[in-house]
Amino acid sequence: MCGIIGYTGPLQARDVVLQGLRQLEYRGYDSAGMALLTDDGDFYLRKKVGQVSALEAVCEPGIPSHCGIGHTRWATHGGVTDANAHPHAVGKVILLHNGIIENYHTISRQFGFEGLATSETDTEVAAQLIDYYYGQTQDPYEAIRKAIHIIDGSYAFCILFTDIPGTIYAIRNVSPLVAATSDQGSFIASDVTALIPYTKRYFAVPEQHILTITEDAIRVETMEGEIIHPDMLEVTWDVEAAQKGGYPHFMLKEIHEQPEVFRKTVTPRLRDGLPNFDAEGIPDSIFEECKSIQVIACGTAMYAGMVGRAIIEMQLRIPVTVSIASEFRYDTPLIDESTLVIVVSQSGETIDTLAALRLAKECGAKVLSIVNVKGSTIARESDYVLYTHAGPEIAVASTKAYMVQLSVFYLIAARMMLVRGKNQEEVRAFISNLTAAADMIENALEQEETLRKQAEKMAFSKDAFYIGRGLDYAFSLEGALKLKEISYIHAEAYAAGELKHGTIALIEPGVPVIALATQDKIFNKTISNIREVKARGAYVILITKQGASVSDEVCDIHLEIPVEDDRFTVFPCAVLWQLLAYYTAYVKGFDMDKPRNLAKSVTVE
Ligand code: G6P
Repeated sequence: MCGIIGYTGPLQARDVVLQGLRQLEYRGYDSAGMALLTDDGDFYLRKKVGQVSALEAVCEPGIPSHCGIGHTRWATHGGVTDANAHPHAVGKVILLHNGIIENYHTISRQFGFEGLATSETDTEVAAQLIDYYYGQTQDPYEAIRKAIHIIDGSYAFCILFTDIPGTIYAIRNVSPLVAATSDQGSFIASDVTALIPYTKRYFAVPEQHILTITEDAIRVETMEGEIIHPDMLEVTWDVEAAQKGGYPHFMLKEIHEQPEVFRKTVTPRLRDGLPNFDAEGIPDSIFEECKSIQVIACGTAMYAGMVGRAIIEMQLRIPVTVSIASEFRYDTPLIDESTLVIVVSQSGETIDTLAALRLAKECGAKVLSIVNVKGSTIARESDYVLYTHAGPEIAVASTKAYMVQLSVFYLIAARMMLVRGKNQEEVRAFISNLTAAADMIENALEQEETLRKQAEKMAFSKDAFYIGRGLDYAFSLEGALKLKEISYIHAEAYAAGELKHGTIALIEPGVPVIALATQDKIFNKTISNIREVKARGAYVILITKQGASVSDEVCDIHLEIPVEDDRFTVFPCAVLWQLLAYYTAYVKGFDMDKPRNLAKSVTVE
């Protein structure tokens, strides 16, 4: 949440900052701002409510500057106003921030800053404090160090001093930052998507280290003044991967990338048709010795965990609990050395998930994470990592990341089957179904036009319900989330058998019900529940396996997926509801890449 970019070097700073902000806009789009140190020794500050394009309109081209910082905001403290947009300038300090300063009120009172602020943000206090110490010490490093000793909370700060040309200072705690130097200058950003037009080599900024960024070098110092050299990382995808590539929206592009990223995630982990994690250095002992599994994640990643639980419990008879990270971190968790904790995160930076991971480690559990962003904090702090290979996911509503998270859960289940004594042929058959899922995803993409037409029918409904039993229920949670987050239709997922205990009261003529009946064992039971909503006038979109016998009066439209094994129906089903949600938002004219009030990479609690 909140995107940060900083640049110093030979290029025009305005253009680099705007370009970086456009790449980072998915992290927040309430307002945007930039500050440039101009070549004549002055500074230039602009901030504007709205998207980066609104900022661009007020930043005239050709500003003579080669050093600047920019910010795209997801509001936490203070409303969405120009004054609350970052950067904040106080005295000789110009600062921007991603995170939350928890003790800003105390600092303000203690240092007599009350009444002096020009915004309602927690951030301005940091600018005031650093300026206060800069006035005392005339030393930027000391001013930052002293301020950081007092500030509590999460932060990634980029700081300019108006009397120090060509230099950006930065420090972080929890909130992410990456940095790089190339022949085009030095860069710092919230994530690597903003750096790849210039360089593929970068480093993750370590917590509680002060960075001094100049045109051709970045100095990284501990709070005790010791210089360190962080490990360099390399991006494995190209700049095109973070562009729309001819699609009208990132979300549609990412939906269509799913067969490819699914194969990229699964295929390299197969040897002779069996799952193998040797290349990742994951010992079988963690699968062999665990007595239970605890999955921790937020949002879509957590819903991938719900499917993971269903499949692991079904195949292995090991108890699996799925927890919402923001709840888990404040619980007294029932886990210990015998628990395998699986943390799931696309960004690898979600603050609640990270805090939950740290708590799990304190409890003695081994942590295996499923992460998309290489070198992210969650990946670095986990005992073991299985990376998903989705490439950059830019649309706020997750699609391809969910798909590959699911695929990794299936791989884990398969590896566990192997190490816990199932026969190889059974595991091979399971894997063969998994690899075939890529074709089923392709097949589901062919139903795009049908889904577009269905979206037209349901676009102006107030509510929608997703129902299913067993695995179908586990999947439908994500279906409902997808629809509500981008189309703003109130959508709920319900275990089909539970409807009659309350929710059926909300069914009235025309209400869309997306019914999943892909599980043979409970097929007839689900169909009975569908009849119950149909009898009350619901508009039913039914999804079943190909060839399922369904009489006409059960539904308004029947979509079939070409899957034989019930355990693998989630993969094509996910595509169907992603397309349904996408086209519903499309018909309503919403920006599904940047849904209101949301952001990706949630680095605030
Ligand atoms: C936000 C995003 C979701 C994502 C969730 C968890 O809510 O909009 O798409 O599932 O955060 O993010 P993570 O990066 O940890 O998977």
